[in-house]
Amino acid sequence: MSGFVDRINSGARKVPTWVIYLLLALPIPYLFYLGLTGGLGREPIKALEHEYGELALKLLIVGLAITPLRRYFGVTLIKFRRAIGVMAFFYVLAHFLVWAILDVQTFDRVWDDIIKRLYITVGMAGFLCLIPLVATSNNWSVRKLGPKWRKLHRLTYLAVILGGVHYIWLVKGIQLEPLLYMAVILGLLALRLPKNKQPQARRA
Ligand code: HEM
Repeated sequence: MSGFVDRINSGARKVPTWVIYLLLALPIPYLFYLGLTGGLGREPIKALEHEYGELALKLLIVGLAITPLRRYFGVTLIKFRRAIGVMAFFYVLAHFLVWAILDVQTFDRVWDDIIKRLYITVGMAGFLCLIPLVATSNNWSVRKLGPKWRKLHRLTYLAVILGGVHYIWLVKGIQLEPLLYMAVILGLLALRLPKNKQPQARRA
């Protein structure tokens, strides 16, 4: 097991972060191209909305998994966490823009939906949480904010929960997939809770 983990860690050390940015960015234009050329079926706008939304949620979840992976398995992928988080934001942005510009199309209806359709309000709240995170995902902000940076970045937890709730809410009836996403989110958040102190051994 530890040989396998060492191999992953040494492989990860060799991969520059720009490669991760590039790999994660490529599906955005590619899916858009597929939508334009008929590769996403008869309802390309809906399909695009779904693809971007689901990839956004997956990336938020992968970002959440990085710390438990190190804590419980020794797999060190921390250097990719910023790229994963930033790209999750861009998927949410793409998801939002497809919905607002290509699907809904008018500002009044976009605004109406945001304030009246609760699953969209929740998605929007998740999106808004991600904005200060992406704006401070640079070395200068980390230095400038000091310990406040860590506190601010706890907003990730709220953003991913809101994303998960948004998904559960928007599907009709009870469906397994969004519930599974939520279970993974809650499981990963539970793993981040500080470990309980060991109870002191009773004196004989
Ligand atoms: C953290 C932010 C967000 C995440 C993680 C997220 C994620 C998702 C996911 C996973 C889906 C379902 C995709 C599928 O069917 O496979 C979805 C659908 C959708 N989302 Fe979001 N979303 C977010 C924010 C937003 C925002 C800001 C809006 C608009 C203001 C929005 C509007 C929608 C709409 C309209 C649908 C499709 C509903 C339908 O099936 O008709 N989402 N989103």
